[in-house]
Amino acid sequence: MLRQLAHRLVALPWVYDLVQTLAGTQSVDRRIAAQVGRAARRVVVDVGGGTGQRGQLFADGGLYVCLDLDAQKLRGWRLRGRTGRALLADATRCPFASATVDLVLLTAVAHHLATEQLERALAEIARVLGPQGLLLLAEPTWVPWHPLGRLLWHFDRGAHPRSAETLGALVRRDFEIVHEERWTPLHRVVFYVARPRAPAPSC
Ligand SMILES: C[S@@+](CC[C@H](N)C(=O)[O-])C[C@H]1O[C@@H](n2cnc3c(N)ncnc32)[C@H](O)[C@@H]1O
Repeated sequence: MLRQLAHRLVALPWVYDLVQTLAGTQSVDRRIAAQVGRAARRVVVDVGGGTGQRGQLFADGGLYVCLDLDAQKLRGWRLRGRTGRALLADATRCPFASATVDLVLLTAVAHHLATEQLERALAEIARVLGPQGLLLLAEPTWVPWHPLGRLLWHFDRGAHPRSAETLGALVRRDFEIVHEERWTPLHRVVFYVARPRAPAPSC
């Protein structure tokens, strides 16, 4: 009951933005801003970008695309007149040609995806990025001995919390992780900077 009410409230774009801010979104923003120089930024896709809050980091050039499955979140993006474009699409079927995207953000999305969906989404992201692209992934993780984290997971809409080890193993199927950070604003968060692995040569 309490959980359902929390989910309904957080679905409202302005409540959602407030919750993201309280959850430490700025600490992720800072890490993203510190990394963007490592990639070209002609096309930046924020996969599961929600209300497109992160577009502000890319307001000074290039095309920021907020891709999300939730039309209500994208309406929030439009109402605020945010930077870039909004795209209603599924992370497991990214509507971009191969190697046409420079930078992908995947922040606080993996726990909304079952393992098979996450594997497909990561493979899609690697495909659209091509070998020169860069993935910046930030994700709250499951830590059994962290009581606050356990409480937050209880109310979270995402049904697939994972440990950093499990998440890292999934990411490494398609990517090489070139930089990693972990910190604890409320949840234990991991941040990966990752490059797509070169596809295996076909015989
Ligand atoms: C917790 S929010 C994170 C939003 C934003 N990335 C951030 O860091 O503030 C998770 C987002 O992932 C989106 N999402 C979940 N499954 C998705 C999918 N299969 N394809 C695209 N977006 C998805 C949800 O609609 C939601 O906006």
